[in-house]
Amino acid sequence: MSSMSPTPAETSPSRTAAVIPAAGRGVRLGPGTPKALRALGGTPMLIHAVRAMAASRAVTLVVVVAPPDGAPEVKNLIADHSLPEHTDYLVVPGGATRQESVRLGLDALPEDVSVVLVHDAARPLVPVDTVDAVVEAVRDGAPAVVPALPLSDTVKEVEPGAPGEPEPVLSTPVRARLRAVQTPQGFDRDTLLRAHKAVAVDGEGATDDAGMVERLGASVVVVPGHEEAFKVTRPLDLVLAEAVLARRRANDGF
Ligand code: C5P
Repeated sequence: MSSMSPTPAETSPSRTAAVIPAAGRGVRLGPGTPKALRALGGTPMLIHAVRAMAASRAVTLVVVVAPPDGAPEVKNLIADHSLPEHTDYLVVPGGATRQESVRLGLDALPEDVSVVLVHDAARPLVPVDTVDAVVEAVRDGAPAVVPALPLSDTVKEVEPGAPGEPEPVLSTPVRARLRAVQTPQGFDRDTLLRAHKAVAVDGEGATDDAGMVERLGASVVVVPGHEEAFKVTRPLDLVLAEAVLARRRANDGF
């Protein structure tokens, strides 16, 4: 944990912070340690995600939202790893849903933060250029910015049935108009706070912060995402993540 003297970026009116919800169990990945604490290339996924945010010069604070009973463990983990020193780190306990966890992270933000990124711990390998593009679009005036990619699969809307049973197709959206959204999503802080105040947690809660801003009627824009910003959800995603890290190591060697 670093507590540096303020740099010009930290005292500027547009200080940027990243909130990383990392309180999920990650059941789709199989039993064991909470997903964010699983190792990738020998380093916990959460540390990769924290480094990915701190890699942006714009980000001067990272707020990690830990499993509700895991904040001390996560604090120790952050203290044990080398992280950029231009960034401060805070750890707060999370909630039962992603939406609650993000809200708890937002509650911990200091007054001088005006741009907020929300980044899934489960997207450990997002490149810094994607983070910077999102920050820049918010600083240029967009209240909500989402990195996203076109889809390679065609998507069907279905009437969900029992697992394994055939499901009736309701419609086929035009693929060229669809985007798969990633994180970090970037927000004007007040807009995101208004969205979290306005949208009550319902069931599993909102899985996407930009969707909550849309429900306010505020405009949300998409910027190009990156294939390395994929979400580690299922066991095969771990294989892909290890391969991306191996390629980066090989490239760094040249
Ligand atoms: O489960 P899913 O992969 O959609 O979770 C997305 C992100 O939200 C993960 O980084 C996960 O740790 C986080 N999360 C959380 N609090 C919860 C559930 C999920 O911070 N209660």
